[in-house]
Amino acid sequence: MITRHVLALTSSLALLALPVVAMAQAHDASMANHQPHYYNAVDYDIDAGSVTYADDIAPLLQRSCQNCHRPGGGAPMSLLSYDEVKPWAPVIMYRTAIRDRMGAMPPFFIEKNIGIDGFKNDYSLSDLELAMIQAWVRNGAPRGNPDNEPPMLKFDDDIGWKVGEPDLVLRSKDVTRPAIGPDWWGDIGLVPTGLTEDRYVKSIEVREINDIPADRGTNTVGGRYMWHHMTYASGVLSEDGKEIVGNRIGWPIHEVGRNADVFPEKAGRLLQANSALHLNAAHLHSNGHDSTGHLEFGIQFFPVGYEPEYSRRGPRTGNGVDIDVLPNKANQEFHNYVVLQEHTKIIAFEPHLHAPGVRMCMEAIWGHNQFTLNCAGYDHNWVKQYVYEDDKAPLLPKGTILHTIGYLDTTAANPNVADTRNWAGGGRRSVSNMFIDLGYSVQLTEEQFQAEMAIRRANMKDRNDYDISCPLCWAPVVEGQSLAVGND
Ligand code: HEC
Repeated sequence: MITRHVLALTSSLALLALPVVAMAQAHDASMANHQPHYYNAVDYDIDAGSVTYADDIAPLLQRSCQNCHRPGGGAPMSLLSYDEVKPWAPVIMYRTAIRDRMGAMPPFFIEKNIGIDGFKNDYSLSDLELAMIQAWVRNGAPRGNPDNEPPMLKFDDDIGWKVGEPDLVLRSKDVTRPAIGPDWWGDIGLVPTGLTEDRYVKSIEVREINDIPADRGTNTVGGRYMWHHMTYASGVLSEDGKEIVGNRIGWPIHEVGRNADVFPEKAGRLLQANSALHLNAAHLHSNGHDSTGHLEFGIQFFPVGYEPEYSRRGPRTGNGVDIDVLPNKANQEFHNYVVLQEHTKIIAFEPHLHAPGVRMCMEAIWGHNQFTLNCAGYDHNWVKQYVYEDDKAPLLPKGTILHTIGYLDTTAANPNVADTRNWAGGGRRSVSNMFIDLGYSVQLTEEQFQAEMAIRRANMKDRNDYDISCPLCWAPVVEGQSLAVGND
């Protein structure tokens, strides 16, 4: 009884204290605040003594870790079997507990205690799963009954196409890098598409084919590739085929480890007749041995006659000019405000900072509503794009102010900062800075916007259900529109 009273008291105190604590945390993005989160098994109804590798942990590792932590997967060690996992148990506990900050495993840094919960391919761990890992490690990481272990996953290491056979494969010219040399930036030329009619692209996947031996001196991911990244655009070729004339269409940047880009059903991207890709900004690096390689662009099309309903155009958020990063200082903030000129659906959020970056948030301000869409930790060693599930993508009315906030830490606590003594401005190198959301959005007509909102409303359970990604879902009904949920 007494215990219960004490518990009740503590929890009501905790409730009272919570908003203040939460605010303090929201404004302290410094590395010093990047503490691991440790949980009590009892709070999650976990019987700590019964958590085993075979029953509980192996399935989590299969889902969230093994795609990288296996031979040839890019991560430093394999986590396929109990014998491989056991020695790493304490480090696994620590790295997973970092949760959504630089250094966290798996590398998926969306903060779950604020904003929209609903991303595609979310392989992060829930609080319950973290509590489970911690209970297991504290209990000596027991194996349990090996018969209960899930069958080993099979991985296909054939360097194939991850999103299926392309309809068209375009190949860059071969490039070479000496064993030792400075990084190289530049234009590697045009690749004609050979298309005789306009086609809309459903997906594009870029892969690097090189002659770097898989078993030689390649214990980092970068060591397996020549390209750091490739920025490119497409456009119609001039009559002599030597240059692009007229409008250029930008494509998602290719970066080491980047997934294929699959465009939304309603927003295919145009590749014109008689066009070419212009591979105008390659960044290449040397790898300790002379190497030759090229890029292949695997393109899948929507059927002939397909027309996109939505146009891909969204605000440019961020600041590329007035960047003023102070030396040796935690909790530096960058702010950017953009007024949406059209109704907008945000498809993906991709925080992009440089080495000092530790966090980015995106919030929407509409009328007297101001709410956080999402916050994500940032680690400049990883390129992360977070794609919203279709029914969770922010649906923002025109006039909304999109506010992006970047958090930087140039103290020694941030391991990505090479030298804490230097002031830095904006620029392309990692020692200079950027502050952009590289994600993308589509712009909606009034009709499309209303239709999308009708779908959201139909998903809402009752009047108390609030959809943070749809600020107008509970707006007063406009004549001719109806709220599709039950009335009160
Ligand atoms: C997308 C690929 C990827 C996924 C998914 C991933 N890891 Fe990693 N992991 C890496 C890479 C690369 C490193 C080395 C770089 C670093 O430490 O950040 C690493 C490092 C680690 C380390 C530190 C190793 C050391 O030397 O100290 C641990 C522990 C770890 N991962 C555990 C996990 C666990 C557990 C999961 C799943 C819950 C996971 N990782 C998911 C790629 C991944």
